[in-house]
Amino acid sequence: MNVLVTGGAGFIGSHFVDRLLEEEADARVSVLDALTYAGTKENVAHLGEEERFRFVLGDIVEAEAVDPLVKDADLVVNFAAESFVDRSIGDARPFAVTNVQGTLTILDACRRHDVAMVQVSTDEVYGSTPEGAFTEESPLQPNNPYSATKAGADLLCRSYHRTYGMDVRIFRGPNAYGPRQHPEKAIPTFTIAALEGRPLPVYGDGSNRREWLHVRDFARAVVTVVRRGKPGEIYNGGGGHEVPNLELAEAICRLTDAPPDLITFVDDRPGHDFRYSMVWDRLRGLEWVPDVPFERGLEETVTWFRDHPDRRGGRA
Ligand SMILES: NC(=O)c1ccc[n+]([C@@H]2O[C@H](COP(=O)([O-])OP(=O)(O)OC[C@H]3O[C@@H](n4cnc5c(N)ncnc54)[C@H](O)[C@@H]3O)[C@@H](O)[C@H]2O)c1
Repeated sequence: MNVLVTGGAGFIGSHFVDRLLEEEADARVSVLDALTYAGTKENVAHLGEEERFRFVLGDIVEAEAVDPLVKDADLVVNFAAESFVDRSIGDARPFAVTNVQGTLTILDACRRHDVAMVQVSTDEVYGSTPEGAFTEESPLQPNNPYSATKAGADLLCRSYHRTYGMDVRIFRGPNAYGPRQHPEKAIPTFTIAALEGRPLPVYGDGSNRREWLHVRDFARAVVTVVRRGKPGEIYNGGGGHEVPNLELAEAICRLTDAPPDLITFVDDRPGHDFRYSMVWDRLRGLEWVPDVPFERGLEETVTWFRDHPDRRGGRA
């Protein structure tokens, strides 16, 4: 099985590559990644000697880069994206280009060469809900430019399955955390600030909630969709740990022995979604359940940032 993993030098994509190579003895993996500010070859450096792995530098928007790789593949798993909501509020254009146009380039190549695709998406496409949980049939109501472009990509994937009968599957994950995450994201931001004795910036009053899934569980979920998912199907991921942002910052202070008065409330993010939650029975039906308890995963993540001062910044 030849698998093309786009965005595989990013946070989740690199863990997916690890997992796939571990689980599938006959898998050969090509990573296509543009190495934007968010990607780094360090995330796949440990695979340097692995003969079933290769890295290709290139942009998913460019058909010339994508097409020859798709032609040689049995499956494409698309992790490549502009992924940070705050940046999308500053400038949505790169998000539209990579997340929508880039996904379209991959879909067209898959269609040309009759190759299956798994699109990695997010709970944010459903929008916010104060209570209850979204199913795969819930309407898409994205509230920020990032999630709007991810929803656009999901709709293109759906349309290519319906129109051309292509095998396109979508996985929608909750917030991921763990080693290798870019320092701009919430858990790394809090952790790095706490380790370095700087203020932990918490949006608004800190009551906004997120569900956190360890990146290894997220990667296993995508492998499950690859192995046992159905063409044209959407799979929500869940089973993470839901916590208000303020409690998360407090937990990180405890783990780092940082004084809690470092927690500082800052102006809320415009259009800040209060809460996401998804029903994930369909994925459970494929025999996936999360494995990493949040307390253990958070401790491991804090230790990783403590042990990797080189990964605490400077790449943006
Ligand atoms: N991180 C989360 O909490 C989360 C949750 C749900 C879904 N997702 C989705 O999972 C995927 C991976 O997220 P992540 O957190 O690992 O992101 P990331 O920002 O860490 O990694 C993205 C990778 O894509 C690459 N990339 C960006 N634009 C590209 C382009 N035009 N061509 C080729 N490569 C390009 C980057 O270099 C980087 O290596 C994204 O599609 C994201 O929307 C993330």
